[in-house]
Amino acid sequence: MRILITGGLGQLGNELSRCISTGRAEIGPIPASYADADVTCIDYHELDISDEAAVDAWFKNYGPYDLVVNSAAITNVDGCEKDEEGAHRVNADAVGYLARGAEGCGAKFVHISTDYVFPGTDPVPRTEDDQTGPISAYGRTKLDGEKETFANCSRTFVLRTAWLYGYVGKNFVKTMVGLGTKLDHVTVVDDQLGNPTSANDLAYEILALADTEYYGLYHCTNEGTCSWADFTEAIMEGADRDCAVVRCSSAEYKENNPQSADRPAYSSLENRHLAQTIGNKMRPWQEALSTYLANMPALAKNPSWDDLTQPAK
Ligand SMILES: NC(=O)c1ccc[n+]([C@@H]2O[C@H](COP(=O)([O-])OP(=O)(O)OC[C@H]3O[C@@H](n4cnc5c(N)ncnc54)[C@H](OP(=O)(O)O)[C@@H]3O)[C@@H](O)[C@H]2O)c1
Repeated sequence: MRILITGGLGQLGNELSRCISTGRAEIGPIPASYADADVTCIDYHELDISDEAAVDAWFKNYGPYDLVVNSAAITNVDGCEKDEEGAHRVNADAVGYLARGAEGCGAKFVHISTDYVFPGTDPVPRTEDDQTGPISAYGRTKLDGEKETFANCSRTFVLRTAWLYGYVGKNFVKTMVGLGTKLDHVTVVDDQLGNPTSANDLAYEILALADTEYYGLYHCTNEGTCSWADFTEAIMEGADRDCAVVRCSSAEYKENNPQSADRPAYSSLENRHLAQTIGNKMRPWQEALSTYLANMPALAKNPSWDDLTQPAK
């Protein structure tokens, strides 16, 4: 099997390559069909996915592939607010180029989207059939990316995930663990609710789904809903940090950070389509976090990337 993974230096890209190279994820073994896979894991410095000609040339020169997984994206939610056009080029237009490349060589295509495609106004977990309505630039560009995916590749899986943390790269968990060693308290919003999700668990479901032909749209988050403040308390406790969590509202946060993007108040997802097809193996978020905190010191640097330094853009 020949596999192309974009966003290889990112959180999810690293967990995908870790799972394929070790044959397993934390929640179980991955399908045997990946055992001898020839995996090409690339990032920005090898291919700017928003360069249409470069993407076409990549498929022409290095294809064909059996599976293409796009985990590249502009994920800085506040940054997207400042340059929506630039974010759109990567989160939407580029997705179309990759999907077209996959379609052209007969590959399956996996793309990752977000809970931020929803407005978050109803306090009920969203299913794949629910009406979208993003309230941020990031959400709008990601929703357009979903459309590009389905428009350009007939063998498409789109997985919407949320509040992602992986062993490699920056994320909320690492930030809070770091702050917990320096501060006696942190102030965190408690009126935005969602699903913290382990990138390793997501990688497991991606690889399980991509081994099938159940194409379509999926929600894929760890089970259970909490606020960022609840999540922070669990992080501080799990990492044994003596740091209090002071709860604030989104309105208070916005007052102090006027440039920040609006985020959905309630963006919990239900993994309904997963449950109806291959089965929903996603763990409760507390369990996934506990494994993550235990493994983080050993895995924060993926050994397969040891010799790789990221050149300046
Ligand atoms: N992180 C979350 O909380 C979250 C939540 C919901 C959904 N998602 C989605 O899940 C997927 C994986 O997220 P992640 O957290 O693993 O992302 P990540 O860690 O930010 O990794 C994304 C990678 O894509 C690269 N990239 C950006 N622009 C590129 C371009 N033009 N060409 C090639 N590569 C480019 C980035 O490089 P640079 O670092 O150099 O920019 C980075 O290495 C994304 O689709 C994201 O939208 C993430």
